[in-house]
Amino acid sequence: MSGIEGKVVAITGASSGIGEATALLLTECGAKVVLGARGLGRLEALAARIAGGGGEAAYLPTDVRRRGDVAALVNLASARYGKLDVLVSNAGIGPLAPLDDLRVEEWDDMIDINIKGVLYGIAAALPVFRSQGFGHFIHTASTAAHRIVPNMAVYAGTKFAVRAISEGLRQEAGDKLRVTVISPGFTRTNLADSTTHPELKAQTIASMEKFAISSDAIARAIAFAIEQPADVDVGEIIVRPTAQG
Ligand SMILES: NC(=O)c1ccc[n+]([C@@H]2O[C@H](COP(=O)([O-])OP(=O)(O)OC[C@H]3O[C@@H](n4cnc5c(N)ncnc54)[C@H](OP(=O)(O)O)[C@@H]3O)[C@@H](O)[C@H]2O)c1
Repeated sequence: MSGIEGKVVAITGASSGIGEATALLLTECGAKVVLGARGLGRLEALAARIAGGGGEAAYLPTDVRRRGDVAALVNLASARYGKLDVLVSNAGIGPLAPLDDLRVEEWDDMIDINIKGVLYGIAAALPVFRSQGFGHFIHTASTAAHRIVPNMAVYAGTKFAVRAISEGLRQEAGDKLRVTVISPGFTRTNLADSTTHPELKAQTIASMEKFAISSDAIARAIAFAIEQPADVDVGEIIVRPTAQG
């Protein structure tokens, strides 16, 4: 994977699931990673694991609901490693519930984290990428951005928004910047932790155990997009369990 060696990759939502698997795979391929999430302990543990395997990782507690936090994460990449090749805006939550429950705080959180978190990533990295003359945005959407099902209306709405914003960004980006959307299907992670509806949470965990795929599958798709030559922009990859309807 020579297209990954030496690249500097900042990742939000890096402490768990897809973000963590991506950090591990990319550092195995010779990238330097800058890890962001809210929980310091998990970031420290992951950075230590990467360093123990001979890789390079920096980390910063980051809440993507705060524009300044996301800017600080991007700045850390440039300050520590002298450039930023890729920003993986991956942080997300997916509390499932019927709209009738009016869990409005969860709607607000999904909008703030899943949509505004991605926008803050663009606000932080776009000027850096423009001045460098290269850069790659990777945004984690979902198969929910393609197919709407009950109890996922707001989550799907946020992921549709991520795809729309990414496509607009791609069209405006010009011939030096790349934009990739990764749309995972059901993946075995801690995502169900954000669901507070008891039955839906239990159902999600049971389905995850039954047929979800490993986060490594999504990490490989992200690595594939990064390793392509600079003139090849992988627009979107959907990776779902073979058993997902
Ligand atoms: N798992 C699936 O089936 C699936 C399917 C489609 C799409 N996705 C998407 O994949 C992405 C990663 O989720 P995952 O499945 O890997 O879930 P996960 O294991 O729960 O990981 C979520 C990550 O996001 C971080 N995070 C949450 N809120 C944050 C905030 N406000 N600021 C910064 N970081 C925050 C979490 O760390 P902290 O809590 O410490 O901040 C954690 O590192 C999400 O965008 C999700 O929507 C997942």
